[in-house]
Amino acid sequence: MSDPGGGPVGELDEDQAKAELARLAMEIKFHDIAYYRSDAPEISDADYDRLRQRNAAIEERFPALKRLDSPSQSVGAPLTDGFTKVRHARPMLSLGNAFDEADVADFLAGIGRFLKLAAEEPIAIVAEPKIDGLSAALRYENGIFVQGATRGDGEVGEDITANLRTIDDIPRVIAGAPDIFEVRGEVFMTHAAFADLNREQVAAGRAEYANPRNAAAGSLRQLDAAITASRNLSFRAYAWGQVSTLPSDTQGGVLAAMAAWGFQVQEHEICRGVGELMVFHGAMEAGRAERPYDIDGIVYKVDRLDWQERLGAASRSPRWAIAHKFAAEQAQTVVEEIDIQVGRTGKLTPVARLKPVTVGGVVVSNATLHNEDYIAEKQIRVGAVVLVQRAGDVIPQVLEVIEPGLEAFQFPKACPACGAPAVRDEGEVDWRCGAGLTCEAQAVERLRHFVSRNAFDIEGLGEKQIRAFYEARVIRAPADIFTLRARDGQGHEPLREWEGWGETSAGNLFEAIDERRTVPLDRLIFALGVRHVGQGNGRLLARRYETLAHFEAAMSPDHLEELLDIDGIGETVARALIDFFADDQNRAVWDDLVAQLQVQDMERADTSSPIAGQTLVFTGTLEQTSRAEAKARAEAMGAKVSGSVSAKTDLVIAGESAGSKLKKAQSLGVKVIDEAGWLALVGAANQ
Ligand code: IVH
Repeated sequence: MSDPGGGPVGELDEDQAKAELARLAMEIKFHDIAYYRSDAPEISDADYDRLRQRNAAIEERFPALKRLDSPSQSVGAPLTDGFTKVRHARPMLSLGNAFDEADVADFLAGIGRFLKLAAEEPIAIVAEPKIDGLSAALRYENGIFVQGATRGDGEVGEDITANLRTIDDIPRVIAGAPDIFEVRGEVFMTHAAFADLNREQVAAGRAEYANPRNAAAGSLRQLDAAITASRNLSFRAYAWGQVSTLPSDTQGGVLAAMAAWGFQVQEHEICRGVGELMVFHGAMEAGRAERPYDIDGIVYKVDRLDWQERLGAASRSPRWAIAHKFAAEQAQTVVEEIDIQVGRTGKLTPVARLKPVTVGGVVVSNATLHNEDYIAEKQIRVGAVVLVQRAGDVIPQVLEVIEPGLEAFQFPKACPACGAPAVRDEGEVDWRCGAGLTCEAQAVERLRHFVSRNAFDIEGLGEKQIRAFYEARVIRAPADIFTLRARDGQGHEPLREWEGWGETSAGNLFEAIDERRTVPLDRLIFALGVRHVGQGNGRLLARRYETLAHFEAAMSPDHLEELLDIDGIGETVARALIDFFADDQNRAVWDDLVAQLQVQDMERADTSSPIAGQTLVFTGTLEQTSRAEAKARAEAMGAKVSGSVSAKTDLVIAGESAGSKLKKAQSLGVKVIDEAGWLALVGAANQ
């Protein structure tokens, strides 16, 4: 056992303590590198722990001396019990997709309209390859890498600092950067590294990874960073999160700064107009096979950062960027069977069971056939030779029939799971099982969705377990999950005695369930599984209503107009919600569930702005900004934008030639300002 040196902590004066903390930071970092990177530790684990303990003890006595790069700020030791969650200071968004020239033209035109640009005003766009890997956020404070996180659900990711530290492309210290700078980019694996890894996996008798992306994900999510260090991962920077100052006012300029700080920056080009973008896209697609790693498209980003700022984001993706995908990869195979799957809302989806074939490095044995019409139109039959295509994460598709099959497929007129008659409403393409929650397949799918990762995310409660609990009649509705512990052993064997379960796993499940009793409102809404209500809509609704009570009160037919006023919520979604809550059985399921939960309120967008919590109405023509931009800005400042003036309206912004709404506002005595007043308000709030 060796002494960490430096004398007793209690006897240090401030100067000595400061010097000691600097020495310890350096020494611990040195041993981290020896251990994680070089696989060659120079001291015992016990001695290493003593260094960390001494560091912590000094920091406790002199909290003001804590260094930004202090070892206590980062997890140097391998994590043993999962990863800690990190809330992103700015959400990590995803990208909308463009598939052809027309989509790209729409993207540019949309930007021009939103910003009210003159038709001839050129929009400089940074175009760069889209890497097929995983995004990561790297936080630098005073130039030191202090924390790295996965994207997670975009709001909350996982702390994988120790793992990211092992990647050569990620500098631990950068010179000349602002005080706080969060670099964002992609972690990925080259084809060569992937081949090496799979060779090693086979040699060690372990399963091979399906593709470089899965291999990168698996390598990054290792609890033992030493394993990550042994995998050859790469990183390219292409974006940023929270920053104290920006080194440039263009996307290209910030990329150049990041390159100067030592990051590998994705190759990019500034393009103007659809033509130039298509040329860049075409060139990169043609060279795709020669590239040492997978790319699945080109990302276009508005170069001017002030424009990016104004454009902002709609629900999940920024308005200033888009991913223009490459054509998907294709292969031929035979349809062996056509099955029907029952979804959580009763939709019957035909699925082709295929003779397994490798498409773009992944073995494909199922493809969606969408619906009855698709099968009839393409004449897809058992025995047919078909062309299948796979694009990124999308479910494989059958594109066309190469050689005809046997008899035409008859779409079943009854639910294959419960036998209830299937219905296809006029104007709809889908057949649905009409049995609702009494259809077991639907009930199980709903529960499966309820516990899935982006919903309640209950560890140890996956598809298999849900099915078993359902069949044993122990869990039939979401609320039953939360009474599982209390009911354990009542009317059924205690869980610890079930096959595949024991004392520990049963205890762990009960704990995992308890951990999820407190749930943010947006997750709860998404978890319900209402048709058309995905994660993005869940968030929009939660932001609008903020509390469970407000949300519940709004779920009735007389609130339809109000729902439609939410930017991003359309008629279909609003009706689906209202119909869902109008059903007595659904209401009962909901009431039972919320009785078991503590629902967290959603935070307001910005409570400090002068219009936070107010209801605004825009009317007339705005000259300087578009209506969409004004509305987005108002909502970001915590206001609600409504389409009609009433006694509840707080403020009306009247543009040129405003008519009846302006009159109504005046008659009701509602405050009215013009566009200049609005811009002053926004400007003042941005100071
Ligand atoms: S920009 C707000 N640039 O694609 C901008 N993303 O679908 C956010 N990706 O989660 C991303 N290469 O994992 C951007 N050059 C690139 C990219 C890129 C790959 C990934 C990233 C992101 C996903 C969006």
